[in-house]
Amino acid sequence: MSAPPGDEERRLARLIRAHNRWRGRGVFNLLASENALSPTARRYLGSDLAGRYTLPMKTTVGGEEIDNSYAGTRYTDQVERLANAAAARLFHGRWATTRPLSGHIAALSALAPLLPRHAKVLAIPPSAGGYDGYAAGFIPAILDFVVRPLPADPVSGEVSAAEAVEEIRRERPQGVVLGQSFFLFPYPLREIAEAAHAQEALVFYDASHVLGLVAGGVFQDPLREGADVLYGSTHKSFPGPQGGLLVTDREDLFAQVDPALVWRVFDNAHWHRIAALGQTLLEMERFGAEYARTVVANAQALGRALADRGLPLIGADRGFTQSHQLRLDRAELARRWGVGPAAVVRRWERQRLIADFEGRLGTAEITRLGLRPEEMGRLADLLVRAGRDGAKVGGEVLAWRRTLRQLRFL
Ligand SMILES: Cc1ncc(COP(=O)(O)O)c(C=O)c1O
Repeated sequence: MSAPPGDEERRLARLIRAHNRWRGRGVFNLLASENALSPTARRYLGSDLAGRYTLPMKTTVGGEEIDNSYAGTRYTDQVERLANAAAARLFHGRWATTRPLSGHIAALSALAPLLPRHAKVLAIPPSAGGYDGYAAGFIPAILDFVVRPLPADPVSGEVSAAEAVEEIRRERPQGVVLGQSFFLFPYPLREIAEAAHAQEALVFYDASHVLGLVAGGVFQDPLREGADVLYGSTHKSFPGPQGGLLVTDREDLFAQVDPALVWRVFDNAHWHRIAALGQTLLEMERFGAEYARTVVANAQALGRALADRGLPLIGADRGFTQSHQLRLDRAELARRWGVGPAAVVRRWERQRLIADFEGRLGTAEITRLGLRPEEMGRLADLLVRAGRDGAKVGGEVLAWRRTLRQLRFL
């Protein structure tokens, strides 16, 4: 006898439907840390792989040699190999793993096996746009690292070669972690890597935010410019499933990282995610260059259009950004509009325009929806009318959003 779904199940179903209508089809999503998955990749997330295990690893059970603890994995293991090979090609490294479950887990996966306990690590502080996870008390607390600030401009988050090199020479760290949550401009990576390598320090490039741009050949090419390991999230500017990956050109480093993933950082690597990621990696091999160029062109055009309409943004003198992100200038916003970013973002949310409360805007998802630089003026009008005047533009946003039914670049 099967019982019918109860109230809570029906409520859950209503919540999912409402969410899909609202966030999936009813808003412009300008969150810099999100993106839209292709229909094929989304289908793979719901495939049979969603419930499976595999552990391709030689072990001995009762004196017998086995290749995998699980039977039935002949396709799963090929899916993984295909995804790893695509990641290696796209990010210009010889060794890649798509197993890390997220960007944060990818950071742990790289840092834990490659740096000793009590290692000194330089990372950009959150006050200059760095990732909170690298601040004292978080990843450094778990791994027993001493973290010191890598200097970056407190407003634009930019890293100057001279300052970074000086700090590396002074601090003599074992690791330098680059990568930011507020990430507008690329790094002088060659100079930083040269200084770090002269001290025998490893350079880690956390590409979580800019992975889609790196894949598309814009922004920068971390492994070619001197980073030892590249890792990051696969769902911010990179339009994949939520998850992580890691790539390196150094066999010696990969030989330490790869065997340390399973049982140290996680066990099952979630193979439906890896299948969806494999699909996105292949899509990016086909369309990544055009996608990435359009994301950045949209960000720069939106920055110009917003600034022309009086919304103050960081980096105006440098074209606002070279990534998918824009950032509101908090001090100037308070002076001109008499409010902080959170108040503006709350007004936007009521009118179906979604950003984060820190005042960071991203153009990855609207680019996937097909918006072009010439449409950024129209979008900026809506953002400024809603954000400054509290105008009720939600109907206009919805009407526009409804015309955009097909994702692009797939
Ligand atoms: C620079 C950076 N690294 C790592 C992460 C963590 O990524 P995830 O949410 O995929 O764990 C973030 C998250 O926003 C980030 O901005």
